[in-house]
Amino acid sequence: MSDPTAAFAEYEREATAALAAAATPEDLEAARIEFLGKKQGRLRDLQKSLGSVPKEDKPAVGKAFNEVKTRVQAALDARQAELESAEGAAAADALDVTLPGRAPHAVGAVHPLTRTIAEFKTILGRLGFAAVEGPEVEDERHNFNALNIPDDHPARDPLENFYLSAASVGKGGGPLLLRSQTSTVQIRVMEQNPPPVRVISIGRVYRPDTIDATHHCQFHQMEGLMVGEGVTMAHLKTVLTLFCRAYLGEGTKVRFRPSFFPFTEPSVEADALWHGAGTGDGGEEGRWLELGGAGMIDPNVLKAVGYDPERVSGFAFGFGMERFCMMRHGISDIRLLTENDVRFLRQFG
Ligand code: FA5
Repeated sequence: MSDPTAAFAEYEREATAALAAAATPEDLEAARIEFLGKKQGRLRDLQKSLGSVPKEDKPAVGKAFNEVKTRVQAALDARQAELESAEGAAAADALDVTLPGRAPHAVGAVHPLTRTIAEFKTILGRLGFAAVEGPEVEDERHNFNALNIPDDHPARDPLENFYLSAASVGKGGGPLLLRSQTSTVQIRVMEQNPPPVRVISIGRVYRPDTIDATHHCQFHQMEGLMVGEGVTMAHLKTVLTLFCRAYLGEGTKVRFRPSFFPFTEPSVEADALWHGAGTGDGGEEGRWLELGGAGMIDPNVLKAVGYDPERVSGFAFGFGMERFCMMRHGISDIRLLTENDVRFLRQFG
């Protein structure tokens, strides 16, 4: 046989050249199969040729064969590592860390009105008012009678209320309606609890009002009620002033204007002098904002729930939640709060 070591040298030269020339992992794999393939290829051919080497030369030729094989395998490993690190660098170049991140699924936010409700509960909770709830479907006793609203009062007009069908009757046998005010909860709380009581109740009320920028047929009210021995109008004004200062800001003042509600005597409309930015036209002077109705609970109401008006007295107030929320956030139309337009809601994210 011709000199096997010359064949080894030629094999090694061609193998290392082919491995060095491989520009892609695919090229490298093709070179590996050609020069180091186990089933076929140039190395296997060389190995076969070892069979014809004279016995005395076998150890030296076998050693030379193994050395060549090891060097070619090392050349393959080195080239493979080079190609892999080049690929990694190219991938790193392809990553542009300055691009804006991919937006995750749209993240929801708490509705502005729900936030206002939570904030009111927190503030009044600090003043010792527990939050309670009452039903939205009411009977006439709780919506009118016990609140000292006489049978012929215009507020009871079927056209001013959402009465349920004639077939639905309350416990007392009278018709049922969607409550038109949260003052119903005053009655329910006093019926079930002896004095003293100090609660607020925030919930939906319903009136067939014409819908416009400041009126809806379904809106929220917050009722406040405090009854005990020696409760006076001064307590009412203090609670409302502390509440307004916590919600609208430190300098906020509260004023009362005479008013009338069948269930309070005397009755007032409460306003707050606010210097805030929400509605934009407050200026240096501030402006008076209507909070809602309030007053000292009429003795007839206390009697209707079994309280002794000679022993206890109390105050109540009822505010429109939407109006507060609109004032605070500068929202110009109440309908925005129920339309669920995400372009509006996103601003509160
Ligand atoms: C009442 O409902 C009385 N129950 C309030 C009260 C409670 C007085 C306790 C005394 C003692 P009034 O009808 O004014 O009062 O409504 C109270 C507030 O609800 C208003 O100041 C206003 O902010 C809001 N409101 C009334 N009607 C609507 C409407 N259609 N849409 C949105 N808010 C309304």
